[in-house]
Amino acid sequence: MASSRSLALVALLYSLLSCYAFVASLASSDGFLQCLSAAIPKQLLYTQSSPSFTPVLVSSVRNPRLFTPTTVRPLVIITPTIASHVQSAVICGRHHVVRIRVRSGGHDYEGLSYRSERSEVFAVVDLNMMRSVHVNQGAGTASIDSGATLGEVYYAISKVSKELAFAAGLCPTIGVGGHLSGGGFGMLLRKYGAAIDSVLDATLVDAEGRLLDKKAMGKDVFWAIRGGGGESFGIVLSWKVKLVPVPPKVTMFKLRKTIDEGVVDILTKWQVLAPALPEDLFIRVVMQKGEAEFQSMYLGTCDKLLPLMGSRFPELGLNQAHCKEMTWIQSVPYIYLGNTATVEDILNRTTSLDTFNKATSDYVRQAIPKDGWVKIFAFLAKPNAGIMITDPYGGKISSLPESATPFPHRGGVLFNIQYMNFWSAATDGSAQTKWLKDFYAFMGPYVSNNPRQAYVNYRDLDLGENVVVGNVTSYKAAKVWGEKYYKSNFNRLAFAKGKIDPDDYFRNEQSIPPMVARK
Ligand code: FDA
Repeated sequence: MASSRSLALVALLYSLLSCYAFVASLASSDGFLQCLSAAIPKQLLYTQSSPSFTPVLVSSVRNPRLFTPTTVRPLVIITPTIASHVQSAVICGRHHVVRIRVRSGGHDYEGLSYRSERSEVFAVVDLNMMRSVHVNQGAGTASIDSGATLGEVYYAISKVSKELAFAAGLCPTIGVGGHLSGGGFGMLLRKYGAAIDSVLDATLVDAEGRLLDKKAMGKDVFWAIRGGGGESFGIVLSWKVKLVPVPPKVTMFKLRKTIDEGVVDILTKWQVLAPALPEDLFIRVVMQKGEAEFQSMYLGTCDKLLPLMGSRFPELGLNQAHCKEMTWIQSVPYIYLGNTATVEDILNRTTSLDTFNKATSDYVRQAIPKDGWVKIFAFLAKPNAGIMITDPYGGKISSLPESATPFPHRGGVLFNIQYMNFWSAATDGSAQTKWLKDFYAFMGPYVSNNPRQAYVNYRDLDLGENVVVGNVTSYKAAKVWGEKYYKSNFNRLAFAKGKIDPDDYFRNEQSIPPMVARK
């Protein structure tokens, strides 16, 4: 709970904010730091001169491409422990014209939570210290701080019940704040939809420093924060989510097929079959040079899965030996961290900065012809090639209308594609990023168009970057990338932004521009 001193300071800062316009002439780094120091304990502030600044900054950076000697770093990192610290940070930032970026798990594919593409003075609010998870077994809900990781959420649920789960992404170190801001999907997407489809309430610190719940933020903003991209609307501190039932045992399999074993024919069938299978069965595919791994979760036992696969997908050749029955929580490390990883391993937040990467995404709405798959494998066999990951939709995720949440990838989607390439410090990555660009260009005829859809949680600045005109993000420039991520929801997002942050305080290279409705 916020102390009375913190609340009094927030009130004082709030009155200061209302006295001054947000004008560039007030910009003052020193004033900002003084303002922060008056409201937030010093040990929660890391300025660039602090010996802990770099370790704290790097603590959740996942990709060394986004952390180089020339990376534009924040003026200060704020690690709040209570809501009033976040409110004070925003109020100080507004008053002294220092923008704030917020980081939960740091997994942003372009690092927008902790770095800027342009030279600008900004601060980072890192929610690493606000990560509690409370599970209410009776109600089947959980209250989750944005700074928690998915692994921490899954683990906390499993300590309360073996038959409850949360439908969200695979990687346990992802932060809840960023994940839910963009959608969030994983092995349960066909049965229970995306993570945002389970959100019941949230608390948001807006650009005025107010702390708002669902009712106070209003219908449009509550709609917008569930998938409309991180940081355009404020800082989401916590979420209340609905948990979903899972059986005491799920069945997992990972099965590799090579080109010689007929992977092209199998994929030609998989792409239409996987989205149409019973919702209890999810089969994703990770493709690389010459082979594909089919990774699956079935919400039931092997003896039920085998006849289902035998009748619907005999080409995969699934047998008893492939089935691994386990609890849902055991499936989390199994699928993402490897066959020998333990449930406790999903709590490990350690990052490594060994592997550089770049990714982008697509959605497929019409089956790719067999010769298209042949060419895809030819691309995956080129020098410096990366991988392609496909997640089938259908089921719950596809059953909601496109306008239910800002995440519009619903009915008619067969599968999502993620293209990714990797390299080490030994090369500059130009060959690998060129391969990625060439592959994306090659895939054009096979994927959705008008707009060519993309998933905001696989953020790619090559899809377009904001331009600031006057002091506001240009709608026209933002529409280029915005319609790829949000389709026609982009317009409603811009109006929601206009309601909650008309001055465009919360902005980054791909934030929603404010549109203000004419009276
Ligand atoms: P980070 O802290 O970097 O934030 C991402 C964005 O959200 C930034 O713009 C940030 O400012 C904003 N933001 C963060 N916290 C916020 C808050 N509290 N309030 C408002 N805005 C906030 N996705 C998926 O759907 N399924 C998956 O299985 C995976 N798997 C996966 C694996 C790996 C290794 C990576 C690196 C990424 C994924 N993802 C994924 C993508 C992931 O969902 C996406 O990168 C999320 O935005 C990460 O959220 P973080 O909080 O970790 O990132």
